[in-house]
Amino acid sequence: MTTATEEAIQYAGPAAAEVLKAREKHCFPLMSYFKEPILIARGKMQYVWDDKGNKYLDAFAGVVTVSVGHCHPVVVERAQKQLEKLWHTTTLFLYPELPRYAEKMLKRAKTVNPDLDAVFFTNSGTEATELMATLAKLHTGQSDFIGLQHSFHGRTLMSMSLTGQGPWRHSQPYASGVYHAPANYTYRRPEGISPEQWADICADQLQGVIDHSTSGRIAAFIGEPVSGNGGVIVPEANYWPKVYAAVKKAGGLFVSDEVQCGMGRFGPDAFYGIKKWGVRPDIVDMAKGIGNGYPLGAVVTTRAIADSLKGRLHFNTYGNNPVACTVGEAVLDVIEAEKLDENAAKVGGVMKTKLEGLMKKYEQVGDVRGFGLMLGVELVKDKKSKAVNPELTGALMEGCKKRGVIIGKGGQWGNVLRIKPPLCITETDADTVVGALDESLKEAV
Ligand SMILES: Cc1ncc(COP(=O)(O)O)c(C=O)c1O
Repeated sequence: MTTATEEAIQYAGPAAAEVLKAREKHCFPLMSYFKEPILIARGKMQYVWDDKGNKYLDAFAGVVTVSVGHCHPVVVERAQKQLEKLWHTTTLFLYPELPRYAEKMLKRAKTVNPDLDAVFFTNSGTEATELMATLAKLHTGQSDFIGLQHSFHGRTLMSMSLTGQGPWRHSQPYASGVYHAPANYTYRRPEGISPEQWADICADQLQGVIDHSTSGRIAAFIGEPVSGNGGVIVPEANYWPKVYAAVKKAGGLFVSDEVQCGMGRFGPDAFYGIKKWGVRPDIVDMAKGIGNGYPLGAVVTTRAIADSLKGRLHFNTYGNNPVACTVGEAVLDVIEAEKLDENAAKVGGVMKTKLEGLMKKYEQVGDVRGFGLMLGVELVKDKKSKAVNPELTGALMEGCKKRGVIIGKGGQWGNVLRIKPPLCITETDADTVVGALDESLKEAV
């Protein structure tokens, strides 16, 4: 596995306060998770450095995006070579980088459904959601969509309409024909009901949405195997198969949004997250980790569904460009060569056990959940009431930052810490994360 060498940075740019002032003056409103935003001056593998040379373990990976490591040398070298050769052309022309990456991408995608045999690369996850919706409408001749509460699918009209979290919806006239079903949120199930029963009830409620809000025919259902932004909500074993059956009964496509769960983050048994439940998606949406930070998304589907665009004008200026394809291919190669999916399972497993230790130790740590290196820690006022505790989320993020660890947050109520580092972290790094959290908890509660 590639490891980061210890490198102090010599940052010669303007100070953080100056950059902040200029940002506020010239750019759209700033959204920062920290009271004082960090100026990230340099990144190397699982670490970043700020303007003053302080080193941080990046346990949020630039929002679950840096998969193989910041500025991974193999990815950098291949991107640089491609930049010198050809930056830009489009799908109106031929170039070998696109089909070569597509073939490798599909080899992995076929692990969730052997019929997935066509891919279109986009610039982002949002754009992948949009393309998915177009495909689903064209293929099925239907226009109703089902999404889940606690989900996130992007920021455009359609993707925001599919998103099932109030804070990410901005009081717009949303796309019509989009309905939401409850997520299978085991931790917040009613008392006296088992996790398995709750999963059945949630899937039945989804069936109810199809029955009552649509004609009984739908274009597609979209779900994240484990909700990312929504707070690492992990459905029970019986949930996805039952949802899949309901979607198929309604003639819809089953879409797995793997923007956060994919690319080996769960471990080698589920390179794409939905594999954990053995359900075969008709479409897989990807982004974030597939480009390691380079703007890259993908829609992977069957030939029959992709052919819905045959004979129609379909083009994207930047999607599929040769640099993006080169970066994407390099990321896949690095994951394979360095067995990063195996590392995710191993280090993630160790970290989860240690986080569960914190759950036993602190009344405010209500739940620890997730697979591999997609972990969530739900914070509450106390275990009995399960009242959400977003103030503590903020305090712990600040506490970890002070101790040189960046972690993220999510959840409808900002009540879940999200630990989703690059897949190259070590067990020592996992100790650092849990140690920083332990000390921050001790300080805050
Ligand atoms: C599950 C999921 N889908 C879609 C998106 C949108 O991706 P992007 O920010 O690349 O547009 C995100 C972004 O956070 C996401 O987490």
